[in-house]
Order: sequence, then structure tokens, then C-alpha cells
Amino acid sequence: MLERYGHGGDLRTASEVFGRSAESFDDFSSNMNPLGPPPSIRNVLAGYLEHIHAYPDPASRALKKTLANRHGIPENAILVGNGAAEIIDLAVRAIRPGITALAMPCFDEYGDAVRKLGGEIYPIPLDAAKAFELGEAEIGAAIERSGADLYMLGSPNNPTGRLVDSGLIYRLLDSGAYVVLDEAFLSFVPDEGKVTLVQAAVQHERFIVIRSMTKFYSVPGIRLGYAVGKPSTISRLRKLQVPWSVNSLAQQIGEAALMDAEFEARSRQWLVTERKWLTDELRRMDMQVTPSEANYLLLRLPESSRLRLSASQLQLEMGRRGVLIRDASRFQGLDHRYIRVAIKLREQNERLLLALSECLGAAKDGSGDSA
Ligand SMILES: Cc1ncc(COP(=O)(O)O)c(C=O)c1O
Repeated sequence: MLERYGHGGDLRTASEVFGRSAESFDDFSSNMNPLGPPPSIRNVLAGYLEHIHAYPDPASRALKKTLANRHGIPENAILVGNGAAEIIDLAVRAIRPGITALAMPCFDEYGDAVRKLGGEIYPIPLDAAKAFELGEAEIGAAIERSGADLYMLGSPNNPTGRLVDSGLIYRLLDSGAYVVLDEAFLSFVPDEGKVTLVQAAVQHERFIVIRSMTKFYSVPGIRLGYAVGKPSTISRLRKLQVPWSVNSLAQQIGEAALMDAEFEARSRQWLVTERKWLTDELRRMDMQVTPSEANYLLLRLPESSRLRLSASQLQLEMGRRGVLIRDASRFQGLDHRYIRVAIKLREQNERLLLALSECLGAAKDGSGDSA
């Protein structure tokens, strides 16, 4: 089991399980931009030794200013955090929900943050037959039946890659509940500026939007994310945050990355092309591919074959070949045949396809049972 600590991208565990060096894997289990990190951060790293002796700016002022300019929102509507993961935790602690509605499958941390505080979860099941789209019917039923005081939704959702329609968010807000919208992967969407609800969050007392900088800029090691909301809401989150939670290297890297317009354009262009190519190739292998707006794909292993491999068995078979995938059957609401893969560069994607066809081919012949 590679998700020992609950997430993909755990190269240390993979190295222990498969007896290979962490660097030797093609990692499709965590969803980082393979073009990153952006070249603009090199100078930051080179000059960082000069800054290491001083405390970081406790209010991340320079980074906040850059973010405020980018989104066209006031600086006091932003709280920078130690990854979107910290912001999820702070948002839930600030709201202290009794019942939280989650559209399943979704990122585990939403439920974990709620349960840590003794809150209850109301699951909104997403339907595979509707490609996991969250629609009017699901939202209407949840408003009527759940009694939820908080809705936590991902847009694009992890692991499905589907966006949430903004009309549904306004409907939820009108119902009197809080909404926390996780836009951790929205930077990958070409018309992000039109889709994001950061500006709406600034206007609304009960609405928080969460953003991550670790995925698009491929810097998960430094931890960087932010919340956007009404200044009064943001100030409630700030009061719960550990002082100096965002280190100075992360702040400087964030600023440099945001200035790199060329990297941004190149990344979005790459994804549009590569996602279509990989989707087509996987469908050719009879995989069921959920249409995705993000840099990852949720797949169901082929029905048609005499396949006996489960997602967890396939993960082991692939890992032995040096390719890491996410066993998506661990997400609530998905059965044992779901996996999730990141979209990477063409050469790496070709290695993924080769390893998949070897494993699935072997399984058809019956040898998959030994996994
Ligand atoms: C949907 C979603 N939100 C938030 C996070 C946390 O991101 P960060 O690395 O910024 O803490 C993740 C990480 O995988 C995620 O998948």
C-alpha cells in the first residue's frame, strides 16, 4: 500500500516497498506540472543563503501584493498558508461545522479536517454514469436533506477532474450554509481568470476559496497555498494560524513563480495537447476515462477483458516496473477498479502506457493473479 500516509507521491514509501531509489520512479501518483519548477525561481534559490538568518515576513506581504494584483482583489482578502493543506485545516477550524457535505469521491483531507473536530460528514454521491458531474439534482437533494452548515467542494475535483458550476455555488450560499471551494488545480485551466470564484469570495461572508501553488509550479516541497475570502473571514483564519507558518523561501519562490508568464502559457498549452493525446491512447486500451479539466485522469480498468487485477494489484505490478500510479479505490465512492494517473511529458506518458499494457496483458493471460 503506497498511500500509507494518505496521499500519492510518497516516494520514500515506494522506495521501501519496491527496493529501488526514490529518483528512479516515474511518478504518476501525484499531480505535479512536469514542466516545472519554473526557471524564474533559480535566482531565488541561488540567493537564499543571505535571507536564511532572518524570520520570514509573518504576513507574507510581498507575495500577498502580487496575488492581489493578479486576481484584482484587496490584499486583506488573502491569507497565505503552508500549502492548501494548512488552509483547509484553518477554514474548517474557523467555521467549526456540525455537518459538512462532501461530494464523493473527493480529496481525503476535507473529511479528515472535519472529523478531527468531531464534525459529521454528509456524503453527496457523484454518479459514474454522469461522469461524476455535480449537478442541480445532487445539490437540490443535499440542501433539502443534509442539514449541512458547510459544503466543501473541489473545482476541479480530485480525483475526477470535473469543475463545479458557479450557479450551484451561489445556490448553496443562498441556502445559508458556508462554502469552501478548493481551486487547488484551477491554475491548469486555460481560462482560469474567468472560471475562478476568488472575486465572489471577497464579497461573501460565508464563502472561502482555496488555492495551491504547489501543483502548477511543481514545488510541493516548499508548501504554499492561500485562502481568499471577505477580510473579516480571512482575519478569523489568520487568528488560528501558527506564527511564521509560511517560510521565507516559500514566499520568495511564490513571488518569482507568479511573475513567470511564459511558464504559465507554456504549461497550459502543454496540458491541452497532452491530455487529449493520453485520453485517446487510454481509451484505445479500453480504459474508461473520466473527462478532466485538470492535469490528471481518473480511469476505470477495462470491463471487456477477462481482467482480474484490482487497482491495488495493478499499483504493485506497475511499481515493480518503476511506474507509480494512484490506487483510486481508496477514495470513498470508487470501487476496486479505479486508478488515477497524472499527465506528464510525452516520453513519460509513453512509459506509462507501455507498463499498463504489459500489466493488463499479463493479467489477461492469467499471470496477474500473482500480484
Ligand atoms: C484537491 C487538493 N487540494 C489541496 C491539496 C493540498 O495542496 P498543497 O500541496 O498546496 O498543500 C491537494 C494535494 O494533493 C489536493 O489534491
